[in-house]
Amino acid sequence: RHQWAGVVEEYRELLDVGPDTPAVTLGEGGTPLIRAEGLSARVGAEVHVKYEGMNPTASFKDRGMTMAITKAKAAGAKAVICASTGNTSASAAAYATKAGITSAVLVPAGKIAMGKMSQAVAHGATLLEVDGNFDDCLTLCRKLSEAYPVHLVNSVNPDRIEGQKTAAFEIVDALGAAPDIHVLPVGNAGNITAYWKGFREYRELGLAGSVPKMFGFQAAGAAPIVLGHPVDEPETVATAIRIGNPASWEQAEAARDESGGLIDSVTDAEILAAHRLLSSTEGIFVEPGSAASVAGLLKAAEAGLVPAGSLVTVTVTGHGLKDPQWALKSADGGDTTPVRVPVDAVSAARALGLEDA
Ligand code: F0G
Repeated sequence: RHQWAGVVEEYRELLDVGPDTPAVTLGEGGTPLIRAEGLSARVGAEVHVKYEGMNPTASFKDRGMTMAITKAKAAGAKAVICASTGNTSASAAAYATKAGITSAVLVPAGKIAMGKMSQAVAHGATLLEVDGNFDDCLTLCRKLSEAYPVHLVNSVNPDRIEGQKTAAFEIVDALGAAPDIHVLPVGNAGNITAYWKGFREYRELGLAGSVPKMFGFQAAGAAPIVLGHPVDEPETVATAIRIGNPASWEQAEAARDESGGLIDSVTDAEILAAHRLLSSTEGIFVEPGSAASVAGLLKAAEAGLVPAGSLVTVTVTGHGLKDPQWALKSADGGDTTPVRVPVDAVSAARALGLEDA
């Protein structure tokens, strides 16, 4: 049986990397594409969920980071830097460590999930908490990478986009065709740019007969592309996509317009409802930012924008364990504290409703 070798090896001839450059890999990519029966029934289409939380650091960022760090290492870089709402920093820290390179990460103070913070620290990144938001962190990182010998690994680095486009390849490889619609969350807009590039390249290579309409969703409190202007103080429970001035804004609009798709917003309430729906009906645990795509699909279907029977793929970008607090809050504000029992089978049976109390 074939052992998955990571996206650089699996797709090397389709990526901007030479045949002899050693890959810095943790085995990323090859993530499950899961047929979602409940969601399919709900929207009247065939829905498959691309579960990117199954990557080595539990988000899609690993696809871009294997490429970015592979090329940084080949170019002799000794240090990398990135701004992050959490996942990029976790991924950069892990891949830099794997490559024997140091990493520095700048994050908005108090606004990144605990799981992500712990990853960056565990992998030995130098972490700075900035008194500002993600957009401020990215501005700082750009300045630092211009003035000092630190290599920028945010998605403004084309190597990141190059690696992330492999998710689109995998979807077409798995389905044997391009979907009619692809849905994903939008933050800094690198990923929608990458998927659109991947889908187009497969069509150009004759590996897919068509490309999907791209449906991107921002959080309502951080929806600059939807509003048509930057948002100075973005706010949302989906901290991963708490971004007010996306670096790949124009590319996201191009993906939307060239594909005949849309970029819309979903409220925090819709995001948390989709988060719960995925975990409680599909068995898929994601972080809130990832649930924006599913919330958006439900909204689009409601508005009649998903033709009956279409083939729909939805990317959920990060694992639920990154930011687990939301699972412990019940939707109706009720109690989620487990029932405590003594070491006694009758008590346990009663608590489980197997015995009358
Ligand atoms: N979903 C998750 C879980 C993310 O972490 C991000 C971005 C996105 C969606 C949006 O992707 O930026 O390519 O449009 N996280 C970045 C970070 C900003 O720093 O981890 P995008």
